[in-house]
Amino acid sequence: MTNELLYLRPNIQVEPLFDYWYAWSHLIPPATAARNLTERHFKVMDSYINAPQVHASAVRNPKLLGGPFIDYGGKRVDEVRKLRDQTKRMRPHLIELSDAIASLDEILRSHAKGFSLQPLYKSVPDVLKGYVELVYDLNNNPSFRVIEPLLYRSRYYDRSAQSLMLSLLDSDERPFLLSTPRLESDSLFHLRVPFDDEVVDGLFRLKTTPRPWGEVKEMLKAPESSERLVSSFFTPNPPSTYLPYQGGGVRWRYFGHACVLLETREISLLFDPVLSYKCESGIPRYTYSDLPDSIDYVIISHNHQDHVLFETLLQIRHKVKNIIVPPSSGGFLQDPSLKLILQNIGFKNVVALDEMESVEWENGSITAYPFLGEHSDLNIRCKAAYLIRIGDRQLLFAADSCNIESRLYEHLQREIGDVDAIFLGMECDGAPLTWLYGPLLTRNIERSMDESRRLAGSNFEQAIDIVRRFNSKSVFVYAMGQEPWLGYIMSLKYTEQSRPIIESNRLIEECSKHNICAERLFGEKEILIEDIGRFS
Ligand SMILES: [Fe+2]
Ligand SMILES: [Fe+2]
Repeated sequence: MTNELLYLRPNIQVEPLFDYWYAWSHLIPPATAARNLTERHFKVMDSYINAPQVHASAVRNPKLLGGPFIDYGGKRVDEVRKLRDQTKRMRPHLIELSDAIASLDEILRSHAKGFSLQPLYKSVPDVLKGYVELVYDLNNNPSFRVIEPLLYRSRYYDRSAQSLMLSLLDSDERPFLLSTPRLESDSLFHLRVPFDDEVVDGLFRLKTTPRPWGEVKEMLKAPESSERLVSSFFTPNPPSTYLPYQGGGVRWRYFGHACVLLETREISLLFDPVLSYKCESGIPRYTYSDLPDSIDYVIISHNHQDHVLFETLLQIRHKVKNIIVPPSSGGFLQDPSLKLILQNIGFKNVVALDEMESVEWENGSITAYPFLGEHSDLNIRCKAAYLIRIGDRQLLFAADSCNIESRLYEHLQREIGDVDAIFLGMECDGAPLTWLYGPLLTRNIERSMDESRRLAGSNFEQAIDIVRRFNSKSVFVYAMGQEPWLGYIMSLKYTEQSRPIIESNRLIEECSKHNICAERLFGEKEILIEDIGRFS
């Protein structure tokens, strides 16, 4: 076996972890990680330890899908307790940081009444001194900004919390990532390296470039006890061959959710990379083996876990030349810098593209445009819709943009003109604010307020308005979380009566009446646009 060349199997699931919890983007910046640790992880684990059966029945209740319930069937309580206690021992300064954020909020609420904030600096909790600036908005509402790059260089950013869990995947069903920690088991290999480690790239190169077992073993430092398990992750069989686009136009392929690969002979663009693994569920799909060896631009629309998925990003990092992200609002807790997040997990080529800014190449361009809503009315700038111009074609990738102000699109149409295709998400129910941002709040929000402020995309009226404004020739509803492999990220299960399905069906019918080609994408799709002119 020693000299046989081996590939990483295409169905090896790789879970990025933060102290055994699935690592999503808010678990990288120290301040948001600290808040999630104390206000989500510890609370869910405490609750499970106290009442495991309540969790077991809640997980089975479709009405509570995506709720804060651990999915271990009421079992493994001792292991959850051990994880909680061990995390408390290992991360005292993150606990301290979270408490300091809560104290600072309280100080601002009680003492910042419109007068100078300078006297308050002496009351800032010691752990935050020098890492925050106190500010008012123009209506004297106090807040603070975190000096994020500096905090990453402090002891509060601890890469030892990061690791990867490898296992053989045989189904699309996986527990919801925000609620269930990953516990060790005999079928899992725990690779204890931080995300920016070069072993991560070395491992994923093995998907397409085989190495002998001796080298693989050495790289992964697998102990003897795991050798059998780890060797089962590799195969001498090469993956299916990727066929590059050879035509003179554009090929775009839908990989599921908001992930679209757009290729010409010269360039490749990958939007919101969220890839599934090959598995025998019967739903055809493009996956890792359908990606080119090198991707010119990965383009991220916004910082939600179904659009920024480390599990995919880390697996393709070695192929990515540039990664385009929206900027953030500059240190406010709810809007951590995605550029810094990606840089800290090992991407060296992150470009933050502001609204109306472009990247150009010989026969095309990428321009970022405003994206409204979908963030519970929080001051979050890390979101962009992108217009891709290739030759004389224009494709608008609007992701979860919610058309809460139609006049925006009137202004944008003047700027952009008509478009050939719009890709638009229509998850118009959305979760309430606290589902994602709850751990960042330091006092309770009224339930009715919470329910009214949702992470929701466009409904029928909002979507058709965008389509009409741009006289789009085709419309693709995407980013719906419909593919079964999205369950662990979004926790959605639609029926024909679900509002996003009803509203998107209406859009498709209405478009069809007006000879606009419209479709809700699901699974996989390929479109070739052969006749493109020159870019001007
Ligand atoms: Fe979103
Ligand atoms: Fe989304």
